[in-house]
Amino acid sequence: MNHAGTARLAVAIAAGVALAVAGCGRRWIPEATDADAARISARWPGTTATQLNHGRTLLLSRCGNCHLPPSPAELQAEAWSDEVREMRERSGLSVADAILVERYLAAFASDQPRGTGR
Ligand code: HEC
Repeated sequence: MNHAGTARLAVAIAAGVALAVAGCGRRWIPEATDADAARISARWPGTTATQLNHGRTLLLSRCGNCHLPPSPAELQAEAWSDEVREMRERSGLSVADAILVERYLAAFASDQPRGTGR
């Protein structure tokens, strides 16, 4: 391997380690239930478990291309709004799909009462 290749590999490994530490080494990305949908409906009335799980699928498929998909409990609900807004275009998500990702993340955010998905 040439020098540039080695440097790139080192950067990739460092990034991977940083993300693993940020996620506390445990990835908690639970499936949403009706109870989770009822809880988040206090903020977004009428949200269904199906919508939340669609958001989860998008999170797993679109937010894991550059780094591991983040665990919802890494941030508080408000912070996820900003984060998803920032990451939406990079992920090629439509505004409507990004809303589902945001609702899923908010439903299991660190400042939410623990959902049934744990
Ligand atoms: C095209 C690559 C790419 C995609 C797709 C992507 N991210 Fe990121 N993400 C990054 C990079 C690069 C960083 C490092 C910090 C930065 O550049 O903002 C990052 C950092 C983060 C962080 C750490 C906090 C921060 O701002 O540094 C979170 C949380 C995050 N991304 C969430 C998401 C979510 C949620 C999605 C899906 C909606 C997503 N990412 C999709 C590239 C991506």
